[in-house]
Amino acid sequence: MIYTITTNPSIDYTMEADLIPGQVNRARSEAIYPGGKGINVSVSLQRLGEETRVLGFAAGHIGRTIRALLDDLRCPHALLELSGGGESRINVKFMGTPETAVNGIGPQLEKADLDNLMALLRDVNQEDAVVLCGWTRSVSFYVEILRQLAGTGCMTVLDCTGETLWQCLECRPFLVKPNLVELGALYGVEDLEYDEAVELAHQLQRDGARNVLVSMGGAGAFLLTEEQELYLANACIGQVRNTVGAGDSLIAGFLHGLKRTGDYGKALQMGIAAGGATAFSDWLGSKEQTMELLGQVQIEKASV
Ligand SMILES: Nc1ncnc2c1ncn2[C@@H]1O[C@H](COP(=O)(O)OP(=O)(O)OP(=O)(O)O)[C@@H](O)[C@H]1O
Ligand SMILES: [Mg+2]
Repeated sequence: MIYTITTNPSIDYTMEADLIPGQVNRARSEAIYPGGKGINVSVSLQRLGEETRVLGFAAGHIGRTIRALLDDLRCPHALLELSGGGESRINVKFMGTPETAVNGIGPQLEKADLDNLMALLRDVNQEDAVVLCGWTRSVSFYVEILRQLAGTGCMTVLDCTGETLWQCLECRPFLVKPNLVELGALYGVEDLEYDEAVELAHQLQRDGARNVLVSMGGAGAFLLTEEQELYLANACIGQVRNTVGAGDSLIAGFLHGLKRTGDYGKALQMGIAAGGATAFSDWLGSKEQTMELLGQVQIEKASV
């Protein structure tokens, strides 16, 4: 089972509209999706046929709608009701030129909520993976989860940034997935070139990460493994529609590939195809699109 954690999920209300400030604008079309990076990973995994469950919190009317949307997508979830009540957030995205988004804040978590979530992770074992991704209000929360998971032998995957990531590195996560900007920001470097990124991936390993998967958007991704192997992959070519969530699908495809084959190169190939399928879709890519794109992805094993 691959568990994902989404502490602050949302409803993403997406409208095609070119905004003119100070006017009543009319959308050309609209769509509604459940939002949150953990949710993206789980929905992508479910579409690939992998056993997964979304864990986290949801509150009030919006929370109930998020659960219903996940049900419609046949994506298993256990989103706990928050002890302090409130409402989960709504994010509004305007797909136009330029793209504009306003994200809600969401309710406050309390200590009891964190304890309740920890209880859901009690039976995790070495067959499982736990994916922690996205921003969290409580910096120490991910560290507490990783500490609880230490000793279970499960695979831990981290896609978070800044202080949260720094604190989590002490727990030696199995996989960390920054994009180029996030990796650079961690070490105070702007406009990372590929060679510098490989250097910083090594540094991230020295700082605690076991495997480092660096995504480079339309330039593909590379993986630096614990065994000091470096795999480089090109991105797929296609009509880009929406790159938000491509990194989450990359994680899903990678874990799916790794579980199925145990081979890092094949896992990276599946990840890149899943990321591409999302980049070429309005929302998250389908299994069919992912399988179609797989043949486009060349894996090069480079020397380190
Ligand atoms: N423009 C693109 N063309 C083709 N593939 C893309 C494109 N953008 C992203 N991808 C695929 O998706 C993967 C992840 O993308 P990216 O590096 O943008 O992740 P990210 O910044 O973490 O995204 P997010 O956090 O929004 O999910 C890339 O490695 C690539 O395989
Ligand atoms: Mg990302």
